[in-house]
Amino acid sequence: MRHIALPKIGTAVAWRDAARALLGERVPPSDVIWGGDDTPPELFANAPAAPPDRSDITVPRSFVALANSVVWHSDPQRFARLYALLWRVQSAPWLMSDRGDAEVAKLRSLEKGVHRCQHKMKAFVRFREIGDPAAPRRSFAAWFEPTHHTVEPTAQFFCRRFGDMDWRILTPDVSAHFEKGVLRLEDGADAPDLPDDAHEELWVTYFRNIFNPARLKVAAMQSEMPKKYWKNMPEAVAIPELIATAPARARAMAEAAPTLPPAHAASAQAMQMRNVSEWTGSACAMRDALEGCTRCDLHKGATQAVPGSGPVDADLMIVGEQPGDQEDLAGRPFVGPAGQLFDQAAAHAGLTREALYLTNAVKHFKFTARGKRRIHQRPTRSEIDRCAWWLNAEIKQVAPKLIVAMGATAALATTGSGQAIMNRRGKIEDGLHGGKVLITLHPAYILRAQPAEVAQQAMRDFQADLALARRIISGDAVSPSESPAISG
Ligand code: URA
Repeated sequence: MRHIALPKIGTAVAWRDAARALLGERVPPSDVIWGGDDTPPELFANAPAAPPDRSDITVPRSFVALANSVVWHSDPQRFARLYALLWRVQSAPWLMSDRGDAEVAKLRSLEKGVHRCQHKMKAFVRFREIGDPAAPRRSFAAWFEPTHHTVEPTAQFFCRRFGDMDWRILTPDVSAHFEKGVLRLEDGADAPDLPDDAHEELWVTYFRNIFNPARLKVAAMQSEMPKKYWKNMPEAVAIPELIATAPARARAMAEAAPTLPPAHAASAQAMQMRNVSEWTGSACAMRDALEGCTRCDLHKGATQAVPGSGPVDADLMIVGEQPGDQEDLAGRPFVGPAGQLFDQAAAHAGLTREALYLTNAVKHFKFTARGKRRIHQRPTRSEIDRCAWWLNAEIKQVAPKLIVAMGATAALATTGSGQAIMNRRGKIEDGLHGGKVLITLHPAYILRAQPAEVAQQAMRDFQADLALARRIISGDAVSPSESPAISG
C-alpha cells in the first residue's frame, strides 16, 4: 500500500507529480492512500520516485483542467477520486466526455464547487487599509473564510487586480501575501483585528444603490451571497433593512409612472412576440412592444404605432380603421376631425370617451405622400390580418361587454366578414373573439358624405348605434326591432 501525503501549498503540482509517478509504476488506485498535510511524516517515504516510463501514459487535457480545480476542494476523497479516474482513462479515453459516468459526474460537481468558491472569493473579499495611506505603496489586509482551499488558485486574480499595492488575504487555511509585486503563500492565520475602513460607507451606499427591491428573492440572494460571508462585508449591515423594506419599495416603484424603455428594447420585445401565438404581457408592456412592431411594412412610413387608449377594464370597446395624419403624430387614436365627430355623437348617445377603450384595427398610419400632404390609404386585407394580432391582444386584455366596429375595416377585423357595411349597420354580429360586435359607420365616412342630407342621416344613424351600444352595456332593455341578433 502506498501512502501519499500532499502539502497544502503547491498541492496541484504535488498531486500531479505523484499521480504520474504512480501511474508510471502501474500502481492501481486500490493500493494508494492519499492524505493531506496532516498525514504523519513517515508516510512520505512511500511516495513513488520518478516514474520509470511515462511514454504510454494518457492524460487528456480535459482531465488536467478538471484535476487542477478539484485538488482545491475540501472533500478528503478528492485525490483518490482523481487518481481512480486517471487510472480508468488510460484504457477508456472517452470517459471524460461520458456524462453518464457517476465518477466523472461527481468530480464535475466538485469542480463546480471550487469554481463557485473562487467566484465568491473574488466577489466578497473586503480589504481594510493597514498602512499609511500616504505611503508610495499602500497596504491592505482582508480576512476571509473560504469553503474550499481556494486561496492559492485565486491569488493570481488579486495580483493582477491589485498589483500596485501590498496586500494580504488571511484565511484559516492558507494566507496570501503580496509585497512589492511578489506573491508569497504561507500557512493559515487566526482572524486578525482589522481596522474599520474609510471606504466602508461607500460600499454600503453602492450596495443600497444596486439593490433592486422589485427583484428581491431572499433565498436566491442568500445563495448568491451566503450569510457566512456577511460578517466581513461592510455592505451587509444594510441587508436586513433592505429586505424588510423591499415589498413597500417595490409597490412604490410599480405605482410610479412607467418610464419608456429604449427603442431597441421595444423592438427586441416585439421581435420576440412575433413568434408567440398571443400576447401574454401586461397592458403597459404591450404599448412598448407595439412601438417596435414590424409585422407588416406600414411601420416604415408611419411616425409611430398608435396603441388603443382608455381604461383596460372598459365595458365598451370602439374599433376604428387606422390612425390618421394627426393620430400618427400625436400617438393617440381619434384626436383629429374624425375623433371630434365621434366625441359629438358619443356625447349625444350618453357616452364619454373616458369610459371607453378606443382603438384601431390597424396600428400604423398608411398613406401616400402628395407634396407635403399625407393622403390616407385603406389598409389591405393582409395588413389587417397581421395587425389583428395586436387587436386580439387588446380585446383579450380589455374583455369588453361589447365591441362597436366603425366602418368596413373594423368590421372585417372583428367579425371576419368583409361584406358591405350599409346593410349591416345597427346590427349585432358574432365577433371572432367569441363576443358581440355592433356594426356602425365610420365617422370619416360621415365627414365626407354628400349631399348634406345624406351626411345628416348618417350622423343620426351613427348616434343611434352608439346609443344602442350604451343601452347594451348598461343592461337596459333593447327591443328586438333595434337588434334582431341580440334578441335572438
Ligand atoms: N380614423 C380612424 O379610424 N382611427 C383614428 O384613430 C383616426 C381616424
